[in-house]
Amino acid sequence: MDTKNVLITIFGGTGDLAKRKLYPSLFRLYQKGNLSDNFAVIGTARRPWSDETYHEVVKESIASFQPSDKEAQDFASHFYYQSHNVKDTDHYDVLNNLSDRLDEKYDIQGNRIFYLAMSPNFFGTIVSRLKSQGMLDTKGYHRVIIEKPFGNDYQSATQLNDEINQVFSEEEIYRIDHYLGKEMIQNISAIRFANLIFESIWNNRYIDNIQISLAEEVGVEERGGYYDQSGALKDMVQNHILQMLSLLAMEPPVAFSEKEIRTEKIKALESIRMYSEEEVRNNFVRGQYVEGEIDNHSFKGYRDEENVDENSLTETFVAGKFLIDNFRWSGVPFYIRTGKHLTEKGTRINVVFKQVPVNVFKNSVTGPYEQKRLEPNVLTIYIQPTEGFSLTINGKEIGQGFQTDPIKLEHRNSADLIENTPEAYEKLLLDVLNGDGTNFTHWDEVAQSWRIVDRIRETWDKDQKTPPGYSAGTMGPKEAYQLLEKEDRHWIWEPDEWYRQRG
Ligand code: BG6
Repeated sequence: MDTKNVLITIFGGTGDLAKRKLYPSLFRLYQKGNLSDNFAVIGTARRPWSDETYHEVVKESIASFQPSDKEAQDFASHFYYQSHNVKDTDHYDVLNNLSDRLDEKYDIQGNRIFYLAMSPNFFGTIVSRLKSQGMLDTKGYHRVIIEKPFGNDYQSATQLNDEINQVFSEEEIYRIDHYLGKEMIQNISAIRFANLIFESIWNNRYIDNIQISLAEEVGVEERGGYYDQSGALKDMVQNHILQMLSLLAMEPPVAFSEKEIRTEKIKALESIRMYSEEEVRNNFVRGQYVEGEIDNHSFKGYRDEENVDENSLTETFVAGKFLIDNFRWSGVPFYIRTGKHLTEKGTRINVVFKQVPVNVFKNSVTGPYEQKRLEPNVLTIYIQPTEGFSLTINGKEIGQGFQTDPIKLEHRNSADLIENTPEAYEKLLLDVLNGDGTNFTHWDEVAQSWRIVDRIRETWDKDQKTPPGYSAGTMGPKEAYQLLEKEDRHWIWEPDEWYRQRG
């Protein structure tokens, strides 16, 4: 059986995600021959579109690849639109008839992928109807891809998972975290497990702290309604940041396979300390953007955004410290921060090594030179928009005397290379076609992440305080700096001129 023969049904086919990410990714897979001619896509949503309208939308979404008219038309001809109300059982019968017809037309052999790219409130209903209306009664494979958020807290996530488990087994469920499809996130494992020089010092004897920053220049855009119910903690920390943290902290897997990696990631997440309320208050800070400027553009404050409560207490920024209670990491803070309308877009990891035990240059026998403080070695992993690594080491400053100076060893992927590497969604869709769940989140990871995040959220909800404001264009409120300063540390990545120059 060729797994490339497949029928993909997208719930949320008229949505932004489908247009911006899914159709372009499917097109790239098609161009590269990762989808055979034996595939079809059904887009469903409430709108009464015709196939022709749908084809135009699909073609528009791939226009940036500049396909020839024929290529665009050939690709789009595999797409079918079915107006659908997810709550109406009869509609699944219509969908199933269309699916059967397409199955026969394209010789799909019963392989079905369902992509749930719409409000999570409907996930449970959709999967149960898929089963009750016979859409899974085919002889091929069945897989379901689920967009975030997977639940709203531990309890709702558990309920959702139970509902999905009645229909699909864990191996058939692909919970998307698009960060796991990013090139440089996948590279974390290469850096750690293919280089003796790092893995041998990847522990609390040599590492002082690890910093994960996910800065966004954009605000909440048109998603005020969703975001005001979610906030930065649930939107970014529960998924992307905790996933990155688990890849950085996990033990080396026995083999680089789905099951082994997953086992280690789960152990790492389970070792994260569950804070008391007081510890949450000491170790996490929030922020909410107020009006400000980025690159000479003025932006309004969060509370003035569309569909946001004018007295909203929702955080658009969060910074915090996680501790991992195991032999490898005991005592090493993992500082994290993320926010909207920060100084610039950038996702970076900084691994800050400890200082040498003695600064022998301090009282140099070669002369009474005034010595600078030795800087720690820092390994930086640039995730986006630039991709690469750098390692800062201390060398001798050129010239007379003996001063040390930090030197940066750098590698950046070229713009050409970045442009031609598959986009996260393309990689993840191909993984699903291949039945490879390595870069998806297992239920145990989701459950543990929610437990951690719920603890923080509950404390904030109890406090009912307005998050400190920060001007759009800065790197968050001063509390985010104080979090590290009180432990005699600082953020290594500091793009905020204003803060650097504050004296
Ligand atoms: C999403 C969040 O998961 O990730 C968005 O819901 C955020 O709020 C986005 O903007 C960031 O993704 P990327 O790939 O642009 O860093």
